[in-house]
Amino acid sequence: MLFKRKDESNIELMEELIPQHIAFIMDGNGRWAKKKGMPRTYGHHEGTKNIRTLALEANRLGIKAMTVYAFSTENFKRPQSEVDFIFKLPKEFFKIYLKDFLENNIQVRYIGHIEQAPKSTRDVILDSVEQTKNNTGLILCFAFIYGAQDEILCAVKDIVKDVKEGAISEDEISEELFESYLMSADLPPLDYMIRTSGECRLSNFMLWQMAYAEMYFSDVYWPDFDVEELYKALDHYQKCDRRYGGLK
Ligand code: FPP
Repeated sequence: MLFKRKDESNIELMEELIPQHIAFIMDGNGRWAKKKGMPRTYGHHEGTKNIRTLALEANRLGIKAMTVYAFSTENFKRPQSEVDFIFKLPKEFFKIYLKDFLENNIQVRYIGHIEQAPKSTRDVILDSVEQTKNNTGLILCFAFIYGAQDEILCAVKDIVKDVKEGAISEDEISEELFESYLMSADLPPLDYMIRTSGECRLSNFMLWQMAYAEMYFSDVYWPDFDVEELYKALDHYQKCDRRYGGLK
């Protein structure tokens, strides 16, 4: 089956080559807002609308999981007013869009240390996770107060603890076992990472999971990365020759 764009791009996507798990580094909100003569926070606010738009389309395309990098462990270095603003976004976001996720069978999840967020932010995320937990469509996963190095260190510490307590033996430690200790353990393997705004770096995002992910760096700022841009990115993905270190 084909998914066809009805615009001038004429992009056709093949169902059998749709990635299972895509992830976004949603960059460029601040520059997008500045270009419009608006405060940086306006960019974050407008950027949230895009999460909903792309999640609905990803769900329609049969993508199983979409992870969005909403707040990194390093983002605490930003001015407190910006941090506070981002922490208030989930409340408004889920108030408006949770019904769309419920209607469209989308399941909300998170990875990261949401226990470090204010209670009101934490509660709204946990409530959305709870209300959508039986949905079987797209998993929309928020990386919130997330850092990949921290995730890996937490996994190492948990494994050491379990070895010490005798729950597992050192010999059992394998790539599969290690993965089961990561915050992303229940998500499908990551196929595709998309970063917006022209920056080409990984910024401490899903480093373990990206071992064999394809990558796409778009010059478009996140608030402008619309469904058409998603199709362009997926078109690129469908042309990738994934060999996982082997030969074809
Ligand atoms: C990077 O752009 C973006 C962020 C650090 C935050 C992204 C967050 C959202 C889009 C909202 C999250 C929403 C929910 C519901 C949790 P930047 O500020 O680094 O942009 P710049 O590089 O242009 O300055």
